[in-house]
Amino acid sequence: MKEIIKIDVKTRTVDFIKCKTDILAIGLFSDVKRLEGLAGELNGKLDGAIEKLIKLGDFKGKEGTNAIVYGNDRIRARKVMLVGLGEKKKAELDTVRKAAANTAKKAVEMKAKTLALALHKAFEGRFDPSIMGKALAEGIYLGGYRYDEFVTDGGNGRLDQLKVEVVDSNSAKIKKLNAGLASGVIIGRAQSYARTLANRPANVIHPAELAAAAKKLVSSYKSLSCIIFDEKQMAAKGMGGVLAVGSGSQNKPRFIILKYKPPGRVTGNRPMVALVGKAITFDSGGLSIKPADKMDEMKLDKTGGIAVLSTMKAVAEMQLPLNVLGVIPSAENLPSGSSYRPGDIITTFSGKTVEVLNTDAEGRMILCDGLTYAAKQKCDVIIDVATLTGACMVALGRHKAGLFGSDEKLIKQLQTAAEQSGEAVWPMPSGDEYAEEMKGKITDLKNIGSKWGGACTAAAFLRQFVGDVKWAHLDIAGVDIIQKPTEFTAEGSTGFGVRLLATYLMNLAGLR
Ligand code: BES
Ligand code: MN
Ligand code: ZN
Repeated sequence: MKEIIKIDVKTRTVDFIKCKTDILAIGLFSDVKRLEGLAGELNGKLDGAIEKLIKLGDFKGKEGTNAIVYGNDRIRARKVMLVGLGEKKKAELDTVRKAAANTAKKAVEMKAKTLALALHKAFEGRFDPSIMGKALAEGIYLGGYRYDEFVTDGGNGRLDQLKVEVVDSNSAKIKKLNAGLASGVIIGRAQSYARTLANRPANVIHPAELAAAAKKLVSSYKSLSCIIFDEKQMAAKGMGGVLAVGSGSQNKPRFIILKYKPPGRVTGNRPMVALVGKAITFDSGGLSIKPADKMDEMKLDKTGGIAVLSTMKAVAEMQLPLNVLGVIPSAENLPSGSSYRPGDIITTFSGKTVEVLNTDAEGRMILCDGLTYAAKQKCDVIIDVATLTGACMVALGRHKAGLFGSDEKLIKQLQTAAEQSGEAVWPMPSGDEYAEEMKGKITDLKNIGSKWGGACTAAAFLRQFVGDVKWAHLDIAGVDIIQKPTEFTAEGSTGFGVRLLATYLMNLAGLR
């Protein structure tokens, strides 16, 4: 397997006219008719070429578009890329992230070795430069990423590496940008790592392989450690939910636990946050089998668990002053002679019994054991993340993840992190009326509710396993994948959750 493209992002104090690079990118708004600032200056050096391009209607500044103008000997860039920022009055932080993504995607397509980005002056007063640095870096990784490790054909059109510089002539500004850029680079790389793991198919990544990836990851960081339970250890502990789901596959389940302890001296009581992620390496539905159409996409049913793993990587690199526990129950949901069946009664790790009425509602069956484990570790907060229900997709489409929870403050904090990270969420209910539907007839609980509100009843089921701990649940079904490439990123796994969770943890640690 070949490596995914390497992207390097740095800042440099330099007059952008004097910047030697393959591509120099500048942003333009769609509703600003006069060429001002950087664009005006460049237009002069290029004898009106930018003006001409716009006049002839080849570039309108629409978000998600770009255009190339060739350089000349009065500037040091070989090409100039005009990047659309959309309407000025609608510009927000995600505009910066998306423009950077669009730029990086195009630069990779053009096989550029070096790319220089100059930030539009209009953003200066509006956002803290550090926050913009973070969004810029995240956008560059988002756009530059493509998944081609199994493409053996050499002519697949990319170089091994892209070097990106964010340039400005003001060194004070560069310094501030740099602070946020550093965390943006860490988070962007963690998200690319997540996308690659998630994009790998189920014959490459099964639970033991995911556990091996976790082990490999923690070996690179002093502050990370991991414990892995195999099926025998899970049986000894009574983790009946994970075992039931995993019983149909030759690829045995694993229970992966990661711990992050901040380096350096202990200063006071740091909160402990537990992240619990669903990692079904393939969800065929089991005996309640899914239709064949798009079943291949169910290799992405491990996305929640991978988001947790990748967030731990980012946390370790940022050295956040918090304790973070990552819990990743992992199994493969297949039909076979040894599968769990509809009607089976399972005793979960919590001791609560569940009647299985549909083996395709397997996510909650593994998450319940993960949540119980986290609750037993005396953490202050539990956040779980899972591609849990098609119903969530019906409710919210592919644009936002469902956000459920028991604590108003935690929900607010996650909404704030969603706005800052560009990974959108929408609040959803999971109260007693939904929990009522999940009560069993011959058991404590059953694993499906009525026909309606499936995302809410699933969340209400999970809620039964967190005890008194403040809890939030992210249903990321629908946002885990992009089916067709967009102007901003490649198709396949989105790595959803990494930016959101890492940003939430940064905020909690008082960093930005
Ligand atoms: N992994 C699926 C949910 C899913 C569906 C994620 C589509 C991404 C895209 C989950 O395990 C599942 O199958 N849920 C069932 C639950 C039902 C049987 C109560 C569903 O949503 O149909
Ligand atoms: Mn399922
Ligand atoms: Zn599933």
